[in-house]
Amino acid sequence: MFLDDLQKLIAKTFLDNKITTYSLDARIVLREVLNLDEKEFILQPKIQVSSENLGKIQKIVERRLKGEPISKIFGRRDFYSSTFLISTEVLDPRPESELIVDIANNFILDKKFKNVIDLGTGSGCILLSILKENKKMNGIGTDISFDAINIAKQNSSNLNLDERALFIVSNWFDSVDGGYDLIVSNPPYISSTEITNLSSSVKNYDPLVSLDGGSDGLVCYKEIADNLNRIIRKNGRIILEIGYNQADDVIKIFESKEFYLLKKYNDISGLDRILTFETKKT
Ligand SMILES: C[S@@+](CC[C@H](N)C(=O)[O-])C[C@H]1O[C@@H](n2cnc3c(N)ncnc32)[C@H](O)[C@@H]1O
Repeated sequence: MFLDDLQKLIAKTFLDNKITTYSLDARIVLREVLNLDEKEFILQPKIQVSSENLGKIQKIVERRLKGEPISKIFGRRDFYSSTFLISTEVLDPRPESELIVDIANNFILDKKFKNVIDLGTGSGCILLSILKENKKMNGIGTDISFDAINIAKQNSSNLNLDERALFIVSNWFDSVDGGYDLIVSNPPYISSTEITNLSSSVKNYDPLVSLDGGSDGLVCYKEIADNLNRIIRKNGRIILEIGYNQADDVIKIFESKEFYLLKKYNDISGLDRILTFETKKT
């Protein structure tokens, strides 16, 4: 079978099964299995796909049709300007979290920040993207999951950031001394009851510990806000990702701990997604 015919067939199969990224996913499956870069893929529509490769492709298409995300199938995901190793032990990095990196870059430039801590670092995608963009920064990523920290460490080595990035297993910042200019976090924020309603590609492939924000979805924000003053410097800043309907609640939680809201940021659908805070000036 020719490559272009196979591409159309796979894309149609994905579309018929309501996979919204049907065209992109078909291209990724073929490029990965046939080991083609984007240019080779476009320039060789009439190469013959061997029966051995057809068998491999069919198995991958079946996994995708059962709801497994492409990134989990191939163990990699692009985020900001890098490709990250991922697994079933870490959250699949989401495009909306890239906004945290953009905001951090602006704060670092503006305030001459020197260090950053990423709470619930998962694959390390947020911390490592910040460090890659800001060559004078050092940072630490914490996670309660030992497996996540292992993945983050591998990503750090792959991006040659080991000298400036440290990853440790910790309940938020319990095992960390203070003195941070910038705190970033995308904590679990889905309420335990809502988790049952999530699509199978999320709830069956992202670890529960990366999603479950407790009975009201706000438990992690309360835990983080509680002692944050211990580790943040005066005039330090906080960047938090939130669920689309949590802005008011999260603002209340942080204001009750003497942080004040700098700004709310929307995602491309116009929903509140990121909040930034500063320590109250004394
Ligand atoms: C929504 S995921 C975010 C992962 C990554 N930062 C990202 O944006 O792709 C939340 C992360 O918080 C971690 N986590 C959950 N509870 C934690 C706790 N008590 N202390 C530290 N990390 C925790 C999870 O293991 C998970 O990796």
